[in-house]
Amino acid sequence: MTPVPSVDVDLWSDDVLVDPYPMYAELRAVGPVVFDRDRDVFILTRYDEIRRAVQDWETFSSAQGVGVGEKGNRLAGNGVLTTDPPRHEQLRRVMNRQLVAQTVAKHQNYLESTAAALVAALVDRKSFDAVTELAQPFSIDVVGSLTGLPEEGREHFMRWADNGFNITGPDNDLARESFGGFYEMYQYCFEFLTPGRLSAGRWGRAFHEAGSGGEIEPDACAGLVMAIVWAGMDTTVNAISAALHLLGTHSDQWDRLRGDPSLMSSAIAEVLRIEPPVQRFTRVTTTDVEISGVVIPEGARVVLLFGSANRDERRFPDPDRFDVSRNPTDHLAFGRGIHRCVGAGLAQQEMRAVVDQWVAHVDQFEVSGASWRRNNGLHGLDHLTVTITNED
Ligand code: HEM
Repeated sequence: MTPVPSVDVDLWSDDVLVDPYPMYAELRAVGPVVFDRDRDVFILTRYDEIRRAVQDWETFSSAQGVGVGEKGNRLAGNGVLTTDPPRHEQLRRVMNRQLVAQTVAKHQNYLESTAAALVAALVDRKSFDAVTELAQPFSIDVVGSLTGLPEEGREHFMRWADNGFNITGPDNDLARESFGGFYEMYQYCFEFLTPGRLSAGRWGRAFHEAGSGGEIEPDACAGLVMAIVWAGMDTTVNAISAALHLLGTHSDQWDRLRGDPSLMSSAIAEVLRIEPPVQRFTRVTTTDVEISGVVIPEGARVVLLFGSANRDERRFPDPDRFDVSRNPTDHLAFGRGIHRCVGAGLAQQEMRAVVDQWVAHVDQFEVSGASWRRNNGLHGLDHLTVTITNED
């Protein structure tokens, strides 16, 4: 057994939150498992070890929360993201029924026409903010409508999601400033969104029906709706914005994709690999566990750096290079194992709907003013100006 190297780093400092990749590369070079003595957490830094952990829920439990801070973990409660089987299985079954790929595929035309209308209007304007005027309205419209959420409250979704991921961090200013917003989101989902306020035949209503039918506890239904408000929109907003940013800053890759749209699935996977919206979650070990020669003791909090796994040079050669033909379908942007993102199919379909329209309508474009947000769990853009420079 090798002793675990201690590191003196702050993964939640402003610089790292805005640009985490240099720090991840340093940590990977130190070892696959490192110990952050300051915060008393183990950090898994490389692909193989992170993949192994997410696939072994019995050893790496989610039931004590998936954040690092105690208060955030307590507030997050015991929804689908923060439970182990058997409860997780029950909740997940209800969600799966609504969100599996086959069900989501039924909404293909709706996604395409929504993206087409939005992109057409923006292309006419030539210059706009891809985050606030394209990715956000698209994702809120699509997920809000599929879930059957009313119009009322939608103006808060981005702030609440930002708050929701901030409370997964340590007790820093971002987390402290987010507890209030998180509570608003909780109240909206548990008190305001009665079944009657959710459209019939949509996901939210179906979750409540599973409760009234006895499949899950009635109390758990609002939690499933909250899982979507929390994790189902801002994540995809970041992914869509990242796609336009990457394509706008790599004109050679943009030209390749435009010249060969059969590269689309590969390009989407590559965006998710190189710029995963969810950067980190945690687990707690249920027993002593040996990982690559290091023993992590029972009861330890372990940080899983998805963003680092996806840039691990042992798995993805030349990992900082954006290559639309790489097709890295084994990326960990959606996690793996029992908690693998339930919305992965929808998220990729949304990304594709927008980028398809982009390829169809745009020849040349430039991006500027990219501003990366500070968030304890997510990495994404607040703003991105896109200017279309098509020759008419
Ligand atoms: C590109 C967009 C997205 C990314 C990168 C993403 C990422 C993730 C990741 C990494 C996990 C695993 C958490 C873990 O292992 O602890 C997860 C779980 C989850 N995601 Fe997503 N997500 C995205 C979009 C969505 C969408 C569109 C929805 C719903 C409409 C959604 C709902 C959820 C839920 C409910 C879970 C918890 C699943 C469980 O614990 O069984 N996500 N997501």
